Amino acid sequence: ADGARVPALVIGTGYGAAVSALRLAEAGIPVTMLEMGRLWSEPAEDGNVFCTITAPDRRSMWFRSRTEAPLATFLWLDVVNRDIEPYPGVLDRVDHGDMAVYVGRGVGGGSLVNGGMAVVPRRDYFGRVLPQVDADAMYDRYYPLAQTELRANTIDQGFHRDSDYYRFSRTAAAQAEAAGLKTAFVPGVYDFDYMRREEAGTAPESALGGELLYGNNHGKMSLPKTYLAKALGTGLVTIAARHEVRRIEQDADGDYLVTVEHKDDADEVIATKQIGARHLFLGAGSLGTTELLLRARDTGDLPDLDESIGQGWGPNGNVMTARANQVWAPTGVKQSTIPVMGIDDWDNEDARVFAEIAPLPAGIETWASLYLAITDNPERGHFTYDAAADRAVLHWSADQAEPGTAAAKSLFDRLNRAHGTSYRYDLFGGNRAFADDFCYHPLGGVVLGEATDDYGRLNGYERLYATDSSLIPGALGVNPLVTITALAERNLEAVIGADIA
Ligand code: FDA
Repeated sequence: ADGARVPALVIGTGYGAAVSALRLAEAGIPVTMLEMGRLWSEPAEDGNVFCTITAPDRRSMWFRSRTEAPLATFLWLDVVNRDIEPYPGVLDRVDHGDMAVYVGRGVGGGSLVNGGMAVVPRRDYFGRVLPQVDADAMYDRYYPLAQTELRANTIDQGFHRDSDYYRFSRTAAAQAEAAGLKTAFVPGVYDFDYMRREEAGTAPESALGGELLYGNNHGKMSLPKTYLAKALGTGLVTIAARHEVRRIEQDADGDYLVTVEHKDDADEVIATKQIGARHLFLGAGSLGTTELLLRARDTGDLPDLDESIGQGWGPNGNVMTARANQVWAPTGVKQSTIPVMGIDDWDNEDARVFAEIAPLPAGIETWASLYLAITDNPERGHFTYDAAADRAVLHWSADQAEPGTAAAKSLFDRLNRAHGTSYRYDLFGGNRAFADDFCYHPLGGVVLGEATDDYGRLNGYERLYATDSSLIPGALGVNPLVTITALAERNLEAVIGADIA
């Protein structure tokens, strides 16, 4: 309500935000969460909450009149995207010139749209990325805690070996192994027992029914089924959906005053509110948290925020590519949308790559192997605040993606040489084999130990915290969701003990 005062306000409902809300509430502190996206709970006319990748409708994307899927074309034809009605759909693509960033919108943030791969980074690399964080505590306590709370589990290898739906994964893994590369199964937050029932025909299809990118109706243990359900279960957490935070100020008592717009499905403002909070936790994601803090600093609302806000951003070295297999190596008409394996060539110092073996569920045989490569690209971008547009602008140029693409190319050239295969040029637009102009893993902007102390407390202010992917400096070596969660667990434990309880 307008003029309300709350003990703790959390902006966003993704991983960092959800951990914050749960642990604060468990410590007895009432929490209000503000989320710009929808609460995805009511089924639409078709009986489902979310739409599929092959028949996207207004639920698919955030205020677009046409979908903008990462694979824009097939055989160079514009057959992938569809005209849709503008609506607060679940997947957004935020364009910043040479880099487009895909993010989830809705209660649950990225957990609604992501592949759910729950990969713990190599310990030595983690130590390089976040040297000030006690790795023993992370690996002994916070990573296992995060995996448990997120309900990470691993696919049964017999199921992977026998199911038609994982032919794409077996084909790509066998080819990698034949080329002398290491592969590994990785945990995920999809309920693999549920997937067995899908295949047996005893449960509605979800991962096996083409649900990808635009939300998942059944098997994925997204945040509304884990951390957020538990947080609401305390009775102390309130979530306000379609509430977009615009501005953060401080009053004379040192409380934070947050200006928030409550919007309708046409994106019209229904009400503008101010909410005061003693403690303010930012979990709006790398882009969202960085923008809110840059705006606050550069408009003079919170002038003492650190110089380094906006720095240290990277796309986790993301590069997408696809190979065209020989006719005797099909990838399958049926494909599960949940990736479960990776090619791990991170020990190759000249070209470190961890490549997720990704599905391409087109409903027809494509003979294509698709990969999301995570590379050790050292390039970083930064944001500046554009006052006229009132938004944060990312400075990242196409050439900054090149070290990552070169590393990915060296790995996939090796695979192509071993199998006499070539790249697919028809999928990403512009006749390209490598898509390095978009990412799924935005990281940084409010780097831990630079813009904040070693626990996410913003420099220059008290009782103001960053909790999400903005803390991680640009690259992590693996998919980031477990690390974001585990780091938030670690930071919140320290903060609740010292600042609040
Ligand atoms: P996150 O982005 O999850 O949540 C931020 C929330 O804040 C959003 O709901 C947003 O709407 C809201 N918000 C932003 N600004 C706001 C404002 N001003 N006011 C109110 N609310 C605001 N990772 C992984 O580990 N394994 C995987 O398999 C994948 N796969 C994958 C696929 C795709 C398609 C995407 C887009 C992403 C992935 N990821 C992934 C990445 C992963 O989902 C991502 O790193 C995390 O969701 C980031 O978590 P955060 O807590 O930082 O924010």
